[in-house]
Amino acid sequence: MKPYIYITRKLPDEVTQSIQTKFQIKMWEHEDIPCPKEVLLSEAKKASALLTMLSDSIDESIFAAGDQIKVVANLAVGFDNIDLNAANKAGVAVCNTPDVLTDTTADLTFSLLMATARRVVEAAEFVKEGQWKSWSPLLLAGHDIHHKTLGIVGMGKIGETLAKRATGFDMNILYHNRTRKQEAESAYGVIYSTFDELVEKSDFIVCLTPLTEETNRMFSREVFQKMKSSAIFVNASRGPVVDEQALYEALVAGEIAGAGLDVFEKEPISADHPLLTLSNVVALPHIGSSSVETRTAMMKLCVENIEAVLNGKQPQTLVNKDWKPLVNVF
Ligand code: DGY
Repeated sequence: MKPYIYITRKLPDEVTQSIQTKFQIKMWEHEDIPCPKEVLLSEAKKASALLTMLSDSIDESIFAAGDQIKVVANLAVGFDNIDLNAANKAGVAVCNTPDVLTDTTADLTFSLLMATARRVVEAAEFVKEGQWKSWSPLLLAGHDIHHKTLGIVGMGKIGETLAKRATGFDMNILYHNRTRKQEAESAYGVIYSTFDELVEKSDFIVCLTPLTEETNRMFSREVFQKMKSSAIFVNASRGPVVDEQALYEALVAGEIAGAGLDVFEKEPISADHPLLTLSNVVALPHIGSSSVETRTAMMKLCVENIEAVLNGKQPQTLVNKDWKPLVNVF
């Protein structure tokens, strides 16, 4: 019998074309409805591989049900939705999709920063709603971006690529990261700062750090209170890195000037969430890497990683680095 691959969303058929003769492939039939946990559990029992979305919780129960699973390929660079310890215990390779999404995600992050600073969404709605009655000197006046200070929290590849964008806007760039990035310092003139210093000095604070135990809710009320009252906060990493209630309170109290958010504590965010009532919040539906080209490349990378593992080879983008290819997989 051919090894069985379960894909937790409907993806274009062309993505799996190259492996269709070698494997038995099944997809959850909806593009916009997540695969329910009970379906995932029952599919996991038969599966040699899972191609998962960041909205799927791949916890111990999945590995317990799926004792044939060799690889989980997640369609995202982030993998906080996967219990890595459980995967390691089960000897399962976990793969993500770094690199192919770096430029696209940096583009979106910078456009979210610009849209928030220059009130682009508010201004477009203003015109469409017929509110534009006359040109006026301070109509929808926003904040300058050029020559301002950008603080990047989480200087991975996306952070570095964002810094590269920002140099074109003559920005001063601070960054905070677990490790110093000497190459980025020489290439883009970015300056390493402590978290507190970055938060206090930056006009734009952009969060790109992965979600871990240490980063969970690192943006607290106390942190927002340290920011300039003219500061704009942008989050393009994971929602739980921010205490959303604290962010709302800081915005209402005028402790910061605005927020651009692509990610939320609970996704999808509910339409009546208090943050969405604020005109100085630009909210997007987690579309950081969402260009047709990049999402297609991410899907193909997931498929290639699955094929590699099921063929007893090293996948291109492995998360659990201690995992070793299995000889004689079948
Ligand atoms: C990722 O890949 O982790 C991004 O959040 C998806 O847009």
